[in-house]
Amino acid sequence: MVNILVVGSGGREHALSWKLSQSSKVDKVFTAPGNGGTKNNVPIPVENIKELADFASKNQCFTVVGPEAPLANGIVDYFESKNLGIFGPSKNGAQLESSKIWAKQFMKRNNIPTAKFEIFDNPKEASSYVESVDHPIVVKADGLAAGKGVIVCNGKDEAFSAIDTILVKKTFGDAGNKIIIEERIDGIEASYIALSDGNVAVPMASSQDHKRIYDDDKGPNTGGMGAYSPTPIIDESMAKKIQTDIIDKTIHAMKKEGNIFRGFLYAGIMIKNKEPFVLEYNVRMGDPECQPITMRMDFDLYDYLHAASAGDLNSLPTPSWKKQSAVCIVLASQGYPESYPKGEEISGLDADDNNSYVFHAGTNFVNGKILTNGGRVLGVTALGDSLKNAIGNAYSATEKISWPHKYCRKDIGKKGLAYL
Ligand code: AMP
Ligand code: GLY
Repeated sequence: MVNILVVGSGGREHALSWKLSQSSKVDKVFTAPGNGGTKNNVPIPVENIKELADFASKNQCFTVVGPEAPLANGIVDYFESKNLGIFGPSKNGAQLESSKIWAKQFMKRNNIPTAKFEIFDNPKEASSYVESVDHPIVVKADGLAAGKGVIVCNGKDEAFSAIDTILVKKTFGDAGNKIIIEERIDGIEASYIALSDGNVAVPMASSQDHKRIYDDDKGPNTGGMGAYSPTPIIDESMAKKIQTDIIDKTIHAMKKEGNIFRGFLYAGIMIKNKEPFVLEYNVRMGDPECQPITMRMDFDLYDYLHAASAGDLNSLPTPSWKKQSAVCIVLASQGYPESYPKGEEISGLDADDNNSYVFHAGTNFVNGKILTNGGRVLGVTALGDSLKNAIGNAYSATEKISWPHKYCRKDIGKKGLAYL
C-alpha cells in the first residue's frame, strides 16, 4: 500500500484525489494545501517545494502534481534528486507551458501544426508588424499569467492596445517581457489530453471546455466554466490525427531534444477545415476537463500515473473508459473572473448520488461549514447515458446547491449537442 500526496487546491486536484483514493493499492491520500472538499489536507503551499518533499518523505508518499506553477518551478526535479516518487514533467518538460515562445519555436522546428507567429519585445516593432499583416491577430504574453495572458483581437486597434497592455503597462509583469503575435484561427476548440511516460503517450478521453464567463461564449475568458467528455467534435479519425501528428510527434521530439516528457500532455486544439492546430500546450490535466474525465475512468489511475513516472506505460493495457458521457458544471461566485465575494456559506452539499459528484475548488471548511473561498467554487459533475442525459443530471444536481452569489452558465455541453 502506498500513500499519495496530491499537490494543489482546485477542482482538478479534488478529482485526482477522489479517483486515486479508489485504488486498492492506495492507503491514504493527502492534499496540499487542498480545499473544503479534499480530505487529509496538509497546510503547505504549492510554492514550498522543500517542505512538500519533507512531508512526502516522512509519510512515504507518491506525489501527484496538479497545477503548472510547481512543475515550472522544478518540483519534479527536486523530488527526483531526493529519490522521491513523483508524477509530472521536469522543469525542462514544463517549458511547453511555462514559455509560450519556447513552445511555438519547438512546434515550428518539429513541424507540429500551429498558427504562424512572430516574437517581439519592442512595442514599436510589434505595432509595425500588426500594421503590415492582413489577417486577424492574437497577442500572447510569453510566460505564465494565470490563464489571462492571451488577448484575441478583433481589429488592429485591439491588437495595438493588447501590445500596450502586455509590453508597456506590464499588466502581467515579467511574464509579458516578450510577446507572440500570431494568426487568429477561427474554428472549433477542443481539449486533447494524453498521458506520457516519455516514450509513448496514451490518450485520455476527449473533452471540451467552455472558457468564457457567459452563455454562448460571451464575455471575458476564465479558467473554464464547465466541460464534458467525450466530445463529438473529436471523432475517431480526428483523434487519430491529433494523436499521430501532434501528441506522438511532441513526445518523440521532446525525447530527441533531451527533455523527456513524463506527465499529462494537454493540447488545446483548434480544428479548422478538418485540420487540427495546437493553440497551446499545458503540461497537466485541464481544470475543469479533469473532473468529467476522471469520472469516466474505468481503470486504476494510480497504476497509470506510477507507470508513467517510471517510463513503463507499455506494461499496462490500454485504459478503458465508461461508455457514459460526463458533464461538469462550474458553480462560480458572481463577479468572477474579476472581483467576487468570499466567505459565503454553501448549502445543499449532501446530495451526491451514484451518478453525480460535487468536486470542490474555491471552498474552505470552517467551524463545520463549507464557505466560498474563490471564483470557481464547485464543479458539479454527473454521468449520463448520453450527453443530453448527463447535462440534465448535472444541472439537476446544481439546483440543490446554493449560496447568495452563486452563478453558472446555463449552456454547458450545448456545443456538443449541436455537433451530434
Ligand atoms: P490560453 O489561455 O492560452 O488557453 O488561450 C486562451 C484562449 O485564446 C484559447 O482557449 C482560445 O480560445 C484563444 N486562442 C489562443 N490562440 C488562438 C489563435 N491562434 N486563434 C484563435 N483563438 C486563439
Ligand atoms: N481548462 C483549461 C485549462 O485547464 O487550462
